[in-house]
Amino acid sequence: MPENDEIIRLENVYKIFGPQPRGRAFDLAQAGVHKNEVQRQSGHVVGLSDVSFSVKKGEIFVVMGLSGSGKSTAIRTVNKLHDVTHGQVLVDGVDVQQLDGKELQAFRREKMGMVFQHFALFPHRNVIDNVAYGLKVQKVDRAERERAARRALRLVGLEPYADNATSELSGGMQQRVGLARALASDPDILLMDEAFSALDPLIRRQMQDELMAIQSEVKKTILFITHDLNEALRIGDRVCIMKDGVVVQIGTPEEILTEPATGYVAEFVQDVDQGRVIRAEEVMESAEPVRLDEPLEQVIATLTTVQSTFVVDAEGKCCGLVSKEDVDRTAINGTPSLANAMRTDFPTASPSQTLNELYAEAGRGLPIACCDSAGVLIGKIEPTAVLEELGRVEALADAFEREVYM
Ligand SMILES: Nc1ncnc2c1ncn2[C@@H]1O[C@H](COP(=O)(O)OP(=O)(O)OP(=O)(O)O)[C@@H](O)[C@H]1O
Ligand SMILES: [Mg+2]
Repeated sequence: MPENDEIIRLENVYKIFGPQPRGRAFDLAQAGVHKNEVQRQSGHVVGLSDVSFSVKKGEIFVVMGLSGSGKSTAIRTVNKLHDVTHGQVLVDGVDVQQLDGKELQAFRREKMGMVFQHFALFPHRNVIDNVAYGLKVQKVDRAERERAARRALRLVGLEPYADNATSELSGGMQQRVGLARALASDPDILLMDEAFSALDPLIRRQMQDELMAIQSEVKKTILFITHDLNEALRIGDRVCIMKDGVVVQIGTPEEILTEPATGYVAEFVQDVDQGRVIRAEEVMESAEPVRLDEPLEQVIATLTTVQSTFVVDAEGKCCGLVSKEDVDRTAINGTPSLANAMRTDFPTASPSQTLNELYAEAGRGLPIACCDSAGVLIGKIEPTAVLEELGRVEALADAFEREVYM
């Protein structure tokens, strides 16, 4: 039984291209034969081989892989632009392969919006007409489609350009019009195939940020295709990595980075700036702080077993960091007390910060206090842990590479 928060499911899907898709090529693919070999023996192209994944409502699910890995083929089974050779595709509980004609059209229209790499806008129509075009085809009345189109334009930040011709807009803006067009009919699902791949890097990042912001506002389910692992890890709640028609790994960005399932994934991961996606909470340890009102002797006793310790107030808020040297120093200068001895300019982080953001703090060589938004200490991070974690995946990838490619 599918879980009830699941909205798209591909189950053991095969797609073979050629005159006899269910013939020998399919038998070979089912036996796990690589697509190149299937091609050699049967002259048929394996698009998808035993592909299964499920997308949860409201998540950004990214399918990532090199050119020819089957990404577009996979997304096209979801709206039945492709029939499948074998397996099942369920969208919101509906077996899409069973749909045809008007029923299929209505289903696509209600459930999903599509955004492609090439925006496919009408250059001489103005922005709002492009956005409202789908609704016009659906015979939605004029006032209603204006309203829907304006709402969509507002979401992508283009409302002021509603009356401009699309040919007057930059590439990034045109892609926003494409996104607005997909959002205009308020579908549950957005299918985005390399939607940002034609944009230059800065604009592309901006679009990724905006997509995430829009998603958190309108809570759509987004099936996003890219050949760029950085993009996948940046925007994906979960990422599915494909190679030669086969799924090689599905996981959160953190899982993909820290536990690459195969040498192939590890090799990809090597090129990625891991610090950007690994979060502070993943390298955080328990802090075991002392309390500000503890007797100094007790604190000194604690400091015989650890180099330094954080100090918290009665509410658990972190107010200082103290080491044995700090206590000794104040003992020379005057009355030793914990409040006098501890340093209050200790480094802090929130659990959701990425390791890259902590890098500078870690460079101070002091433990980092990991605090919630109220300042309550929830853990500590040793500066060496940040550096180790940043180096770890790289080492892992090296090892895999030696093993697999020797
Ligand atoms: N209509 C088709 N007829 C024959 N073969 C096809 C067809 N569509 C796709 N293929 C083949 O299926 C495989 C997967 O193609 P697909 O377009 O899904 O790859 P992709 O991962 O989207 O690649 P890209 O990053 O280049 O868009 C490729 O080997 C391709 O040649
Ligand atoms: Mg493609």
